Amino acid sequence: MKLNKLTISLSTIALALFLVACGDKPKEAAPTETAAPAVAQDPEIAKGEEIFLQNCASCHGEKGAGDGAAAAALNPKPRNFKAPANEWKNGNTVAAITKTLNEGIKGSPMVAYKHLGNENIALLAKYVEYLGKN
Ligand code: HEC
Repeated sequence: MKLNKLTISLSTIALALFLVACGDKPKEAAPTETAAPAVAQDPEIAKGEEIFLQNCASCHGEKGAGDGAAAAALNPKPRNFKAPANEWKNGNTVAAITKTLNEGIKGSPMVAYKHLGNENIALLAKYVEYLGKN
């Protein structure tokens, strides 16, 4: 009996969450679609963009130009991902960006993002490389 009640209330919560999540969707989806239609064609780039906007854009800027809201107060400045390779400390290849995200850059506001997990770091590295070329 107890278990049944628990199951019922859990499904009610799940249903409520589902409805809330659905209710929010149109609002969230709209800006992404208008802001970056080309990006959405590659699901990995689209996912990378989402993680980047949440974790990195405050410093690196929405397009990775190093001009996020916090950039003015930082020293050294956040990398502009379009900067030539010789201006990067670890480098602008996917492998080098992965190293930066796992280890951070010592003595700078660029901390390690290892906690995001390998999958998200791989998506981010691909997206940072993409921003460097687009
Ligand atoms: C608190 C501000 C801040 C945040 C947030 C931040 N960065 Fe940085 N990032 C920096 C700064 C500052 C540098 C430049 C470090 C230096 O030159 O020593 C940098 C450098 C880099 C570099 C270049 C490393 C190199 O080889 O020169 C990459 C790549 C990078 N960040 C990616 C990211 C990604 C991806 C995220 C989000 C997961 C992120 N950063 C979040 C401030 C930030």
